[in-house]
Amino acid sequence: MALPTVTVIGAGQVGATTTHLLALKGLANVILIDIVDGLAQGKALDLMQSAPIEGFGGSIQGTTDFNAMAGSRLVMITAGLPRKPGMSREDLLAANANIVGPIASRMASAAPEAVAIVVTNPLDVMVAFTLQRTGWPRQRVMGMAGVLDSARLRVLIAERLQVAPSQVHAMVLGSHGDLMVPVVRSVTVDGRPITERLSPEELDRLFQRTRDGGAEIVALLKQGSAFYAPATGVVAMARAILQNTHEVLPVCASLEGEYGLRDACIGVPAQLGAAGIERIVEMELTAEERRALQAAAEQVRASTKSLSTLVS
Ligand code: LAC
Repeated sequence: MALPTVTVIGAGQVGATTTHLLALKGLANVILIDIVDGLAQGKALDLMQSAPIEGFGGSIQGTTDFNAMAGSRLVMITAGLPRKPGMSREDLLAANANIVGPIASRMASAAPEAVAIVVTNPLDVMVAFTLQRTGWPRQRVMGMAGVLDSARLRVLIAERLQVAPSQVHAMVLGSHGDLMVPVVRSVTVDGRPITERLSPEELDRLFQRTRDGGAEIVALLKQGSAFYAPATGVVAMARAILQNTHEVLPVCASLEGEYGLRDACIGVPAQLGAAGIERIVEMELTAEERRALQAAAEQVRASTKSLSTLVS
């Protein structure tokens, strides 16, 4: 069966790692685009040279030409600046909006039928901005954060309880920032509620470390931010879309009444398939979690509004 074409925009750490995973998993032929001359071309050559060793059949092409994304089923936007130690994701707002805005417009004309996954921070605002710029239906524009944030929480709980991370399930919703909303009821170990194993105080401590998970890595690396787990998160979403699996994953989506919210892009569970977001899943939340989701939505809405003065 012919592989679908996927475009990855931004040949930095997240973009290159995403490209490699897509190829290794046999999910797509990848077009890797970057404005820096030679960067995408060089990384594509390097990645492609792993093909005979790994035995993957897909192609990887690097280019500076945005028109090369024509015909792509899926476009991933990873371009943008990463955080420096001490910065919040919101500090990247103006700089990254000025990168993502033109990319979204070019994507809308070059690949008008594609599904887009945004990875650039501040994530939720960049999803809202991409929706505005493309004018695409909300089914076709989403962001990757919840898969990553949930994975971070799962690993922390697994380490604390000395179990395999895959035995821990968790959904982290809300915004990809301080207003992340880990859903207590969603956290299970071996199918049993986490509240049987950990005290509320201990859970709160792990939730906070999850919220700070990106910053913890930024502080250690001193240059750049996390990319292995983020790329794995995007590829999990890509697989659900490309293989039409109808899997439910936490993704940043535009809400139109779900969870009582409108006009805001935040992390919620969504069923993914060939069309993109097939359905937003409404989990049962506590009153506190609902309020936290609302606060996250308000913050994203306010930041999105402020873009009109920040974008040149
Ligand atoms: C993180 C950054 C990439 O969470 O947002 O690691």
